[in-house]
Amino acid sequence: MISTRELTRDFVVSRTETVHAVRGISLDVQPGELVAVLGPNGAGKTTTLRMLTTLIGPTAGTATVAGYDVTTQPGQVRRKIGYVGQGNGAGHHQRAGDELVGQGVIYGLDRRAAKRRTGELLEALELTELAGRKVSELSGGQRRRLDVAMGLVHAPKLLFLDEPSTGLDPQNRANLWDHILRMREQYAMTIVLTTHYLDEADSMAERVVVVDHGEVIADDTAEALKSRLAGDRLALTVAPGNLPAIAALAEKLPGAKEVVAVGDELSVRVADGPAALPALITAAQERGIPVAGAQVHRPTLDDVFLNLTGRSLREAETNGKAA
Ligand SMILES: Nc1ncnc2c1ncn2[C@@H]1O[C@H](COP(=O)(O)OP(=O)(O)OP(=O)(O)O)[C@@H](O)[C@H]1O
Ligand SMILES: [Mg+2]
Repeated sequence: MISTRELTRDFVVSRTETVHAVRGISLDVQPGELVAVLGPNGAGKTTTLRMLTTLIGPTAGTATVAGYDVTTQPGQVRRKIGYVGQGNGAGHHQRAGDELVGQGVIYGLDRRAAKRRTGELLEALELTELAGRKVSELSGGQRRRLDVAMGLVHAPKLLFLDEPSTGLDPQNRANLWDHILRMREQYAMTIVLTTHYLDEADSMAERVVVVDHGEVIADDTAEALKSRLAGDRLALTVAPGNLPAIAALAEKLPGAKEVVAVGDELSVRVADGPAALPALITAAQERGIPVAGAQVHRPTLDDVFLNLTGRSLREAETNGKAA
């Protein structure tokens, strides 16, 4: 559905400054996949989506989307895709239903077909009762659902969503996700989206692409990324006097690293937590070291990012925003 090779985009900001927003991204997306693109502010996510949706041209490299080249066949690409941008697409004074019909007409549907499609989408996204409301009167979550509907009017097989859930409360986020997943089933769509919510990417996407400084630094299932790059963390509570002894045992676990003692807790990162924990407890008991508590912490995608870049995604975000 998507294939890019060394896709690159520079922005010449002034005579002395060029921003290398996207630096040689090679990415393949198969039909039916749901891919989440993660990365701190300024990583190049939106720029990549804008190239794939033909809104801007690449500086170098190639991309085919839905079988067409983004540079030489932008018209064909646009007819095959839907795009919901980072801001709001819909005009504020229009009524939600009219906005959708208008969008359908722009995409070449006749009025009757546009109306039929609008009815269908309003229904699917639970907006039917709000069709007569002005866009400016909708809540953030309702408006974002309308944005998604706007991207779907012409029944694209491929949908790009740039931060669909940003700014929504947890309930609206969950609700929007429900709708996205349902749409995907109903229309057998391929979806590429960006998000800043790691938990969302973790639980909803089958595949996570991590972008940093314009490059793909990881691309796999969330599960694989977490176990390969971060591993699990074991935390054992022992009497402070026993910390050195238990640390020595922890060092011997397969793949053990980052063995640290904080207070009366020993923390160690291992490849397979559920297997390593009983082994460590048994070893401790054999040496007469009482273990008061034990936990396995599964890694998060933030641990993955930390492991890859040496900085936490949250930290990178804050820096990006301040810059
Ligand atoms: N039109 C432009 N002119 C100059 N620089 C730009 C332009 N668009 C983007 N950039 C720069 O390119 C880099 C990547 O921006 P982009 O919008 O792709 O990031 P992003 O990953 O979408 O970030 P965010 O999470 O904040 O949306 C940033 O440094 C940004 O300032
Ligand atoms: Mg962006």
